Amino acid sequence: MVKEANKKLGNNGISKIINIAVLASGRGTNLQSIIDKIGSGYLNAKVAIVISDKQDAFALERAKKHKITTLFLDPKKATSREEYDKMVVKQLEKYKVDVVVLAGFMRLLSKYFVNAYRNKLINIHPTLLPSFPGIHGYEDAWQYGVKISGCTVHFVDEGCDTGPIILQKFNPIKDDDTFESFKERGLKIEHEALPEALKLFCEGKLKVDGRRVKILN
Ligand code: GRF
Repeated sequence: MVKEANKKLGNNGISKIINIAVLASGRGTNLQSIIDKIGSGYLNAKVAIVISDKQDAFALERAKKHKITTLFLDPKKATSREEYDKMVVKQLEKYKVDVVVLAGFMRLLSKYFVNAYRNKLINIHPTLLPSFPGIHGYEDAWQYGVKISGCTVHFVDEGCDTGPIILQKFNPIKDDDTFESFKERGLKIEHEALPEALKLFCEGKLKVDGRRVKILN
């Protein structure tokens, strides 16, 4: 019942395909994992638009290859973080985006953006939060010498990597790991975790209760 009530329904009562926007600044392997999981039928969603703050982000090329609309929004065209975010949100509204995924988007979001998409804004972080927030997650976890690392998919709030956690996956570090092998395995785990969290979102199974995200059956 709860699951049904949470499903997004179109006018005809048939469950609607969720429109995803992906924001990415770099190579876009997490974007690729979403595209692939939609292709395989695992995710019942559509990538409506990929937006980048970097003109040469490989994520844009990946999207184009799959005939997904892309947009480079130049941060130099905005005088403040909020002004930039307003440009982004305008596009998200234009493309009727239901959920926004930050997949290696290297900008902090303004309160304006977070408020506009609260509980509809998802980030993937390459450590087990709250350990090692920030942009050097793999390096920081490796240098600290942790025995178990992993990744975190979470809703975004006003802080840096502080929002309510949707799911986490482990990446135990082996004695014969190098930084490269640790990171390579970690990325593969990310590519499972992000689509899994998105699937739960698309199926209306995520309920945010304060800091806790409950997964409905
Ligand atoms: C990933 O490690 C993700 O966890 C972090 O940024 C990286 C993006 O990689 N937020 P990619 O561009 O998706 O390959």
